[in-house]
Amino acid sequence: MKYLDVEIRPMLDSDLPQVMEIENLCFLHPYKEKDILYELHENPVSTVLVIEYTAKSFGLKQIVGFVDYWITFDSGTICQIAVHPDIQREGVGSELMREVLNDARAKKVNTLTLEVRASNEKAINFYKKHGFYVVVTKPHYYDNGEDALYMMTEVNKNG
Ligand SMILES: CC(C)(COP(=O)(O)OP(=O)(O)OC[C@H]1O[C@@H](n2cnc3c(N)ncnc32)[C@H](O)[C@@H]1OP(=O)(O)O)[C@@H](O)C(=O)NCCC(=O)NCCS
Repeated sequence: MKYLDVEIRPMLDSDLPQVMEIENLCFLHPYKEKDILYELHENPVSTVLVIEYTAKSFGLKQIVGFVDYWITFDSGTICQIAVHPDIQREGVGSELMREVLNDARAKKVNTLTLEVRASNEKAINFYKKHGFYVVVTKPHYYDNGEDALYMMTEVNKNG
């Protein structure tokens, strides 16, 4: 982009306020700060990446999305992916997903899985666009009784 630098990089502690803002805007039952910090520092299998825009002329920086995923040997799970609502459907989530898929390929991961609320049509469309398919419905998976769709992609057939 002409006026913006776009960078995807590992999350830092100093990103927490902006990540929490996106978390709270995007999820019905958001993670708390301590949950994100657990993913950053204690969970041995997690990777948390942020996507940051920098306005070249001003040097202003803004985190616009993040993804938290787990890789265990040859399989991976997308735990959370979120884009600031002001900038959704502009390709930001897809940039993050491509990064996850590239990392998974580099680490010889065979399959990536995830759970998504059955009512979350935009996320389901998003995942389908990135090669995920529904394996099974998990009935009453969430606290409010909502079903989850368990989705999967074979990393090497994807892309
Ligand atoms: C799901 C999410 C990460 C997608 O990120 P995004 O940056 O908006 O997605 P993109 O712009 O890269 O869209 C890629 C594709 O996803 C699908 N999609 C995205 N937003 C959509 C919407 N509002 N309605 C229908 N399909 C949608 C489309 O297939 C889209 O491709 P297209 O624009 O060419 O039709 C974002 O909507 C989000 O943060 N949602 C809230 C958090 C959430 O539900 N996360 C997933 C559960 S963990």
